[in-house]
Amino acid sequence: MPASPAPAATDDGLPAGRTATVTAVGHFLPERCLTNADLEGMVDTSDEWIQKRTGIRERRILRDPEKATSYMATRAAEELLDKRGLAAEELDAIVVGTVTPDMFYPSTACLVQDELGATGAFGYDVSAACSGFLYALGAGAGHVASGQCEKVLVIGADKMSSIVDYTDRSTCILFGDGAGAVLLEPSRDGHGLRDMHQRVDGSEWENLCQPGGGSRQPPTHQSLDRRDHFLKQNGRPVFKQAVQRMAEASLTVMQRNDLTPEDVDYLVPHQANRRIIEATAHQMGLPLEKAMMNIGEYGNTTAATLPLCLHDWEADLRKGDRLILTTFGGGYTWGAGLLTWAYDGTEGHAAGEQEEASAGR
Ligand code: ACO
Repeated sequence: MPASPAPAATDDGLPAGRTATVTAVGHFLPERCLTNADLEGMVDTSDEWIQKRTGIRERRILRDPEKATSYMATRAAEELLDKRGLAAEELDAIVVGTVTPDMFYPSTACLVQDELGATGAFGYDVSAACSGFLYALGAGAGHVASGQCEKVLVIGADKMSSIVDYTDRSTCILFGDGAGAVLLEPSRDGHGLRDMHQRVDGSEWENLCQPGGGSRQPPTHQSLDRRDHFLKQNGRPVFKQAVQRMAEASLTVMQRNDLTPEDVDYLVPHQANRRIIEATAHQMGLPLEKAMMNIGEYGNTTAATLPLCLHDWEADLRKGDRLILTTFGGGYTWGAGLLTWAYDGTEGHAAGEQEEASAGR
């Protein structure tokens, strides 16, 4: 679909042009709650250690073995479409960030497309571990800003319980299952995704990986015996890198957009560890109250953490609020984005249509 001509300037001094903005948020969390007390019965750990070292109290687990990541992603998408009053046929694209796809191929996006009945959409998955949603958001925003698409569904979803080793106390306490989704539509008033800084560094890939199952180490009896199909993490170096990289990326975005800490309304950080979030906010000069944090209830849901934060804070968000989204994950992958919010409250916002109407088109 061709892009419409951009206005010469915006009222509030923001750069003119077509941007992609979030117009609705959806989510899905499984009902089953795995508490720290439950984990005390599974591995040598304690509620006190987990809360003190990570901030996590409980996490949700998708128990039904018949249900996988696409199930959660589809439920999040349905909630979003319902709120925005759209039919699935109106979607132009579906981009899913995940490291726990239902299978290597077809992509989770294809399975979501089929279950939703999004007959006019193309789609694909983005593999960037905990940065999956941010990277998918950047890709989806590109499809909208270029004029290729009008409505892009961006989902972050992971069934981490399918790759977590529940005999490894250093990782099994961290992760939970969940999905979050946003709808991206064109905005012509300067709101939406204003900036994005992304990097990868593969030189320390072994510190956070799932070594088995790919073309380097296809499944064998030996790989199963070595438990190589589970997530492996060397926590300390990952912790240090996470703080450094999320703070660096966020400060880069703040500096090149001339934003002081006072100008930032919310930090939307990846939820890997409460201490990482505290240190990142501190290095950015932000009070902790500006950092969205729900790690206590959900743990680390990998690609779902950012959209789940947006969902949980949606009622508090106001049009024009400036959000810094930042993530760090396996790879390493990391980044930060500046998103200005386009609507008040929880019902979603028909940005494209209203703006088209007001422009007399
Ligand atoms: N219960 C009790 N003790 C534990 C547990 C546990 N669950 N896990 C580890 N310990 C012990 C260790 O064995 C160690 O004992 P020792 O001193 O006798 O050797 C001690 O606690 C300290 O271990 P550390 O690994 O140094 O603990 P740390 O304070 O670093 O916390 C954690 C570990 C929570 C994993 C932390 O390193 C972390 O959050 N790392 C970053 C995670 C992250 O950001 N990941 C990126 C995103 S995830 C993704 O992309 C998929």
